[in-house]
Amino acid sequence: MSLPWCDNPFPMYLAPMAGVTDPIFRTLCKEEGADVMETEFVSAEGVLQAWKRNRRYVEFEQQHRPLGIQIFGSVPEHAAAAARIIVDAMHPDFLDINAGCPVPKVVGKNGGSSLLKDLPLLQNIASAVVKELGSDCPVTTKIRIGWDAQNICAPEAVVRLQDAGVQAIAIHGRTRSQQYGGKADWRMIDHCARLVQIPVIGNGDIASPEDVKRVRETTAVSGVMIGRAAMNAPWLFRRAKVYLNTGTIPPEPTAKEKLDFMLRHTRMAIESAHYGDELITMRAMRARLLAYAKGIPGSKAVRPSLARVSSLAELSDILATLC
Ligand SMILES: Cc1cc2nc3c(=O)[nH]c(=O)nc-3n(C[C@H](O)[C@H](O)[C@H](O)COP(=O)(O)O)c2cc1C
Repeated sequence: MSLPWCDNPFPMYLAPMAGVTDPIFRTLCKEEGADVMETEFVSAEGVLQAWKRNRRYVEFEQQHRPLGIQIFGSVPEHAAAAARIIVDAMHPDFLDINAGCPVPKVVGKNGGSSLLKDLPLLQNIASAVVKELGSDCPVTTKIRIGWDAQNICAPEAVVRLQDAGVQAIAIHGRTRSQQYGGKADWRMIDHCARLVQIPVIGNGDIASPEDVKRVRETTAVSGVMIGRAAMNAPWLFRRAKVYLNTGTIPPEPTAKEKLDFMLRHTRMAIESAHYGDELITMRAMRARLLAYAKGIPGSKAVRPSLARVSSLAELSDILATLC
């Protein structure tokens, strides 16, 4: 079973980001040119114990396809059973296993990046999920390069995952110890990509169209995955695509276009009620609005107001002072 979107000369993935890559943001990134997307992760145990409550984390619209649903877990049979529930209910294009999350809540349950300390277990989880899903849904995995600088295990991990029948691997070029600090190690990502026949998607610090072109030309990855830079500037996908296709980098959106984008994102989020009522949605949007506002002339002065904004009308008034 091959992944058709990997026939795209160089697919650009929107990285899964808990609390960020909700359905509305995915719709916006799709419009801006993201080729492949994933939901934020859901716990395999949570799926088994309370599927109805956890289902909302993995809901998506047909227009988001190709889309993967990401799970984390530490017990092969449970991961496989959860994958089966998800695939039968949601029919994603792929099921992704998280072996990179550094947060204590996940690592403490032996999930996420703690699997990098036990590669046989990681392989068993992948094998169990692959076996359970058979030809119903391809399985992929997202890893970091290792637990810490003394324990870089990605080269062994990618070979084991390929042996387990995983169809693609995304590698975030940092260790768990680095969290989000330091620099992503693209030489290690490149090395791993050359060790396996399945597509490796490179991830970490891709922030500009030039970055996308550079890793396409200088590494063996089959595509890139973009996280924080897309959170601040979803139009990066579109600009990178034009650059790859034509050699010319389109300008960034104007300040006015960015302000319109902020209002539209907020309006869509409120209408979707994904987070709850208008006030709860605005609370969820504050960090996003602050990220979008970076670099807009005059935005420093309104940052305190954006950090407290509690309605669409108020946001509209704040942004009007920037036009
Ligand atoms: C707020 C936030 C939430 C994240 N949530 C997830 C997640 O649910 N699953 C996952 O595999 N990675 C998660 N990540 C990691 C990103 O997918 C990505 O690997 C990381 O940000 C590095 O890519 P970047 O340098 O392009 O941001 C998260 C990152 C951030 C900043």
